[in-house]
Amino acid sequence: MECIDESIRPTSAEIRAPSMKALFAEAQAIDAKMKVPEALWSRLRGKQVKAVDHDQDLWFRNMADAKPSLFRDFPVPALKPVGAKKASLDEATERLLKVLRGARSQHKYRFRTGRSRSLKYMTIRELMKYWSNPRSIVTTTDLHIRDTVIEKVIDVNALSDFNLFPLMHEDTSSLEMMSMVISSAGALTDSHSDDMDISNYCFFGSKLWLAWDTHEGHEHGLDDCDRVEIEEHARFDMKTFISLKSARWFVVNDGDMLFMPGNMAHRVVTLKPYVGVGAFYVAFPNALRTVSRWQNYTANWELDKSPEEIEHSSREEVASYVAKTFKSGPKRLKNKAGASYSTYALESWLKAYSQSKRKHWSSAATIADAYNSSP
Ligand SMILES: [Fe+2]
Repeated sequence: MECIDESIRPTSAEIRAPSMKALFAEAQAIDAKMKVPEALWSRLRGKQVKAVDHDQDLWFRNMADAKPSLFRDFPVPALKPVGAKKASLDEATERLLKVLRGARSQHKYRFRTGRSRSLKYMTIRELMKYWSNPRSIVTTTDLHIRDTVIEKVIDVNALSDFNLFPLMHEDTSSLEMMSMVISSAGALTDSHSDDMDISNYCFFGSKLWLAWDTHEGHEHGLDDCDRVEIEEHARFDMKTFISLKSARWFVVNDGDMLFMPGNMAHRVVTLKPYVGVGAFYVAFPNALRTVSRWQNYTANWELDKSPEEIEHSSREEVASYVAKTFKSGPKRLKNKAGASYSTYALESWLKAYSQSKRKHWSSAATIADAYNSSP
């Protein structure tokens, strides 16, 4: 059995409490734009999202409020062989690495490699060889898990129990993007947004995330690769980042689950070799904000399309599916997907947006009307 190299796995005390200056010095060695101006350390400290114990109630409320969150000790999302006891995080990681390293599929996935982040196509086995070489830098962009051998070891349901995307039309359910996140220490993911609420579970490794509201950032000169044409690298500097009201940062470590609202652009450096799993999702608490954002700003993937080119409106489907399921869906599904947070979500949405904005959002109104009916 493959073993995790204990010399590269720090203790939880070590990974949870490096000094902020040491942390950003490490990040700056990877991404020169992470240099923090001397006078701004205390302001930066105030922007940190601290890890708290996993709490589904808090997660649902933060979804409704679009507040990024970091949960430690999320239940390990591992499938176990019949009769085996529940896997620890280390055991689950070992099983996962073994499956990845032994994957026979000849399908080539897209990865970014080296400091220049050039695109390469590799099988999963080739990727894992590359990743195991401490001198190589690689990061995944689209290693989807559904219908692959990875589903034999990762408990996908435990990760997306509340996600309504998989139940929708094929075009919309594919937005879920349940994917492996595999990257080497030293990898940089340039500033971008996904326009979806994200969950990201870390089996192993460490990443520093900087996040901000993409539109506030844009107004102050920070680029988001998914919303503006970028020549080579997104414009980014720490002084501007720290000045933003919406700016937040945090470090994701072994066993942590991150929630990132879809309005937030992010810039991420991998500090220690990382294996995790990410997905996009919609549930009752975040549906109102999600479709409002898509209607207000146009979803990232529709930016370069004319209305006539959009054959299937995911926004409309999400709105009608959420409203219909809220009114008459199975009780079990509604409980799992946070239907009891509908009033909280509605109040949060009413507080966040003025009537003059809301009146233009027909898709959001479909959901709001359903939540108002409170069956
Ligand atoms: Fe992202």
